[in-house]
Amino acid sequence: MNRRELFKTISATAFVSGFSGIARAQVATPTASPRQVLSLDKGWRFHEGDIPMPLLVTHQETYEAAKAGKGPGAADVKYDDSAWPRVTLPHDFAIAQPFDKNANVDQAYRPRGVAWYRNTLLFTQADHGRHIELQLDGMATFATVWFNGTLVDRNWSGYQSAYIDLTPYAYYDKPNQLAIRVDATAMEGWWYEGAGLYRHAWIVKRDPVHIVTDGVFAHPVKTGDTWTIPVEVTLNNSGDKTAQVTVTSELRDAGGKALATVRAQAACDPLGQGVVNMTLPISFTPDLWSPETPVIYSVATRIEQGGRVLDEVTTPCGFRTTRWDADQGFFLNDRHVKIKGVCLHQDHAGVGTAIPENVIDYRLKRLKTLGCNAIRFSHNAQNTYLMHACDRMGFLVMAENRNFDASPDYIAQLQWLVRRDRNHPSIYLWSVFNEEPMQATEQGYEMVRRMSAAVKALDATRPVTAAMNGGLDAAISVAEAVDVVGINYQQDKYDLFHKAHPDKPMFSSEDTSAFMTRGEYKSDQDKHIMASYDDEAAPWGETQRDAWQAVVERPFVGGQFVWTGLDYHGEPSPFTWPSNSSYFGILDLCGFDKAAAFIHRAQWIDDTPQLGLVPHWNWQAGNKVRVMACTNADEVELFVNGQSAGRQKGDRLRMNYWTLDYAPGFIEARAYKGGKLVAKARNETTGKAVALRLTPDLDALTANGRDAAPVKVEAIDAKGRNVPLAQDRVTFAIEGGTIIGLGNGDPTCLEPEKGSQRSLFNGLAQVIVQAGATAGALTLTASADGLKPASVAIKLNPGCFTAPWRAPGEIADQATA
Ligand code: GAL
Repeated sequence: MNRRELFKTISATAFVSGFSGIARAQVATPTASPRQVLSLDKGWRFHEGDIPMPLLVTHQETYEAAKAGKGPGAADVKYDDSAWPRVTLPHDFAIAQPFDKNANVDQAYRPRGVAWYRNTLLFTQADHGRHIELQLDGMATFATVWFNGTLVDRNWSGYQSAYIDLTPYAYYDKPNQLAIRVDATAMEGWWYEGAGLYRHAWIVKRDPVHIVTDGVFAHPVKTGDTWTIPVEVTLNNSGDKTAQVTVTSELRDAGGKALATVRAQAACDPLGQGVVNMTLPISFTPDLWSPETPVIYSVATRIEQGGRVLDEVTTPCGFRTTRWDADQGFFLNDRHVKIKGVCLHQDHAGVGTAIPENVIDYRLKRLKTLGCNAIRFSHNAQNTYLMHACDRMGFLVMAENRNFDASPDYIAQLQWLVRRDRNHPSIYLWSVFNEEPMQATEQGYEMVRRMSAAVKALDATRPVTAAMNGGLDAAISVAEAVDVVGINYQQDKYDLFHKAHPDKPMFSSEDTSAFMTRGEYKSDQDKHIMASYDDEAAPWGETQRDAWQAVVERPFVGGQFVWTGLDYHGEPSPFTWPSNSSYFGILDLCGFDKAAAFIHRAQWIDDTPQLGLVPHWNWQAGNKVRVMACTNADEVELFVNGQSAGRQKGDRLRMNYWTLDYAPGFIEARAYKGGKLVAKARNETTGKAVALRLTPDLDALTANGRDAAPVKVEAIDAKGRNVPLAQDRVTFAIEGGTIIGLGNGDPTCLEPEKGSQRSLFNGLAQVIVQAGATAGALTLTASADGLKPASVAIKLNPGCFTAPWRAPGEIADQATA
C-alpha cells in the first residue's frame, strides 16, 4: 500500500498544541489502555524430531487436506500430543544436545534438526470481537505455523519475529490448537544459532480499531536549534464499521510527566490500514541521550473513540543528533566520538540463544567496564529487549540485517527490523549486509541501492552502511550505494580508500579477530590453547593492539568494532573439534575478563586510571615469565616481591612488558600520572585451593519463575584468593529455583551446559540460576572433592512477571490447556 492509497482509508488532520508549564500539568491522565499483552511462554508441548506428514492416497484424503482448517499430521487439530513433554519459552533445544563430532562445527557441534511445538489456547467470550495477535519473537530457523489447522505463517529467518492475526480463526467456546514446525536443519549463519522457539511468545488482544504492532514511529529530529518529533502512527481496523478516532501522542519524561502533546483525527474504514502523521513540538531543552547520559523519554500514543481509549502504546524516545564527517569521523550531539565498539552474537554460556533478560543486562554491564560505547549486532536482528537495554545503558547500536537479498520476502525482513527498532535512540546505523561476495559487482550495487531505499522509506534519520571485506578499490561497489562505508579488516586499505573516496565517511565495521584463552599464557596448538599476550590473530585479522592503533591514529576512521566482545558458541577458529566455542572474545563465553579486557580498558577509557596486570603468579621455580601491564597512565613500574623490575613510559597502544625469573611471592604494578601514583595492581602466589566461593551478579530476583542471574564460581585459597589454575569439578544443588545453564569459558570443554556439574576452568565457572515462583530465597550450593563447599542465597522478592519493554505492570499468562 502506498501513501496515496493510505489516505483513501484514513484522513488525518493534525493539530498541534504545545504546552506551557501550567497547561502541561493539566494534561489529563489517560484511562488505562484496553490493550492486553499476555505471555505465551508457558503451556507448550515439545517433540524433538520431525513428524512426517501423512501420505495422501485417496481422493477424499487429498481433497480434505487441501482445505483451510485441515492441517495434516501434527498440525491437525485432533493430533494427540499428550505424551509430549512440556517446555517453557525461551527454549533452545540445540544447547541441550550432547556434542557430536560429526555435527556442524560452526553450530558448536550441536545436532539441530526439526522439532514440533504445540499449545492449546483458551479464549473466552469476553475476547470475542477483539483483535487477537500471536507474536513469536524468534524461531530458529525456518518455521511453519498452523492455528486451528489453518496454515497462518511461514517464517524464513530465525531472527525475525512473526506477528500473526489469529482473529479470523479463533474459537471462544472450545480450545484453539497452535502447532509450529521448526526446521533447524536450515542455517543462516556460520555461528551458533540455537534451535526452536528460542525467544518469547505473546498474545496481544486489542480493540478491532488499534495501533498495529511496531506501528508508532516517533523519533526526535533537530532542525537548526529546534527539536520536533515527527510521529507516524499506523492504524488498523479489523472490525466491520468505519471508526472516527482521535489519535494522541504525548511525550513524557522518565518520571511519566507529560511534556508535549499532539492530536489528530482519523477515519478508519473496515479492514483498512492507514497512517496518521503528526508533529510533536518541543518547547523545552531536552536532556540529550549519549552513552554517558542515556536519558530516555517516551512517547505514549493512544487512540480514542468518543472518549473511550481503544488502544495505547508507549515507545522509547531519545534526543540526540548524529553526524558523519569524511575527514573527522563520527559526531554525537555535535561532539566528536570515536566508536569503541564490539561485535556481538546473541548467545551465552549455558543458555545458548534462550537468553534471560538479566543475562543480557549482565553482558552489557560487563562490556561497559571495558569503556565500550558501541555494539554491532552481527549479523542479524536481536532480541527486542536488548535494544531497550542498549537505550537504557548507553550503547550506540549498529543494527544489522541477516540476509542480503533484495527480493520481496527479504526486503520484508529488512523492513520488519527497521520498523521494530527505529524508535531506539541507541540505533545509529543500519547495516544491510556483512561481507558479501557480490559487494564489488553491479548486481551487489543494485541490491544495496534497493535495500537502502527500503530502509530510507521507513527511517530517513539514520545512515545506511554495509560491512565490506573487499572490493574497496573496485570500479563499482556497494560503497557507492551506502551513506557510510563499513570496512571489515583490510586495515592496510584505510588510507587508499580515504584518498580515493575523500567525501565518503568510513569506519571499521569489524576488525581484530585475535585469539586468546582466558588465563592461559603459553600457546599450545595441540591443546588448542592461545596465550594472553595479544600476539596471535586470524590471517585476515590483527591483534587487539594493531587494530585499535590503525583506527585511533586516523581521524577519518570513525572508530572500530572488535570481533568480538564476548566469545560465542561455534566458529572455534583457528581450531576444530574438540574446540566448540570461539577464541575471539575480549571476554570469555561467561563474560569473564580475558587479558584483552585489560588492553581495551587501557585503550578506551580516558577519564579514570586503568591498570591491568597479567599473568597470575603461580609458576614453577626456574620459569621465565612474561609480564604485561595495561594502563592508560603516563608511567608504570613493576615490582617483584617489593623490588623494582623497571619503570616504563606507559604505552596504552602497545602495552608494557617485562620478562622475569619467577620467584614465589607477588608482582605489583604501579601506575603514575604526572608523577603521582594513580593505580596499583597485584598478583600473588596463592596457596592451594581449600574452598569454593559463589558470587551472584544480583542479590535479589523476583519470585516469578523467570528472573535469572549468573553466579560466579571460584576456588579460593586459605586467604580467600582466587586460585588461578584450579580446575576442580564442581557439583551444584539448588533450592527455591532452577539451574538453567553452566559454563566455564573453556572453548575446548565438552561437558554439558545443562545439569548440575561443571569443572572450573582456570579458577572460574558460571552457573545461571532462575528464580522459583515462591518468595523467600533461592539457595545455590557448590561442592567439590577436597574443598569446603560454598552456599549463597539470592533473595526472592514477591512479585509477578513484568516485561516493561512490552507493557507496563504485571504480564499475565495467556490461558492454555
Ligand atoms: C569475519 C566475519 C565474522 C567472523 C569473523 C571471524 O570475516 O564477518 O562473522 O566469521 O570473520 O574472524
